[in-house]
Amino acid sequence: MEKENGHVEPVQLVIRDLHANVEGKEILRGVNLTVTQGETHALMGPNGSGKSTLANVVMGHPKYEVTQGEILFNGINILDLSPDKRARMGIFLAFQYPSAVPGVSVGNFLRRALEAKREGYDPNAPAEPTGQMPKRKGIPPAEFRKMLNEKMRLLKVDNTFVNRYINEGFSGGEKKRAEILQMAMLEPSMAILDETDSGLDVDALRIVSEGVNALRGPKLGVLIITHYQRILDYITPDVVHVMYKGRIVKSGGRDFALEVDKQGYERLIQDLEASEGSEETVEA
Ligand SMILES: Nc1ncnc2c1ncn2[C@@H]1O[C@H](COP(=O)(O)OP(=O)(O)O)[C@@H](O)[C@H]1O
Ligand SMILES: [Mg+2]
Repeated sequence: MEKENGHVEPVQLVIRDLHANVEGKEILRGVNLTVTQGETHALMGPNGSGKSTLANVVMGHPKYEVTQGEILFNGINILDLSPDKRARMGIFLAFQYPSAVPGVSVGNFLRRALEAKREGYDPNAPAEPTGQMPKRKGIPPAEFRKMLNEKMRLLKVDNTFVNRYINEGFSGGEKKRAEILQMAMLEPSMAILDETDSGLDVDALRIVSEGVNALRGPKLGVLIITHYQRILDYITPDVVHVMYKGRIVKSGGRDFALEVDKQGYERLIQDLEASEGSEETVEA
């Protein structure tokens, strides 16, 4: 966000008192979280605590109904915007289970994705005349190639990879490679990586963490979602949050992840509930 004096404020993703339902059941029960461009946050928590739900709600998945609270991106309330518009504003979500796209090569897929992203989205711009699609901005092939080559070099991706069909016969590691390459090409200001349950093998784990580390920098905010602490051995987060029953129950610095790993979620939650209980006693 550019101010009058030309000073550029970092982009922030601000989630306030977010409540969301899936199929009539309340899953998110008051989430508060702020991620600033340049920071890496880890979201941990036991299975079923609502981590993937949060990622899906931020991206605007239609299955999830927001009943309370707000999500601001770059100061703009994004709750009424389509997933596509959110992506064009600079939010990236790596899908947990990307599906195969037969007949579309990784290269072509990336080109389309980049073209859409380059159209951008300005909520203050006048609406398109009815029935008209926004003009697609083509990318000159040489420019696209150059950028792709740079990103492939940065991420140590083999040249032949972009000619493969997207996700068709991909190993877990290759799916991750495609995701990270997509993220590199789109240059989002906020990336949400949901690595939960996906049972990352060592290869995939290395690809994701080396990729994220290569892309980290002042222009990128990262929210990495993970059940296990393991990936945080490779990606050192600035802030670690634990989610439980639809709320962030505790946050801490990078060492907090190790602490959680050592004592386990059960113990952490027991301790929190015990201290909440004693506070209530004090207040009563
Ligand atoms: N698409 C969905 N349809 C029905 N229930 C869902 C859906 N997504 C999530 N849930 C439910 O929401 C709860 C939280 O799930 P999830 O967000 O996937 O947790 P986590 O990612 O922390 O393991 C679970 O009880 C799950 O069954
Ligand atoms: Mg999940």
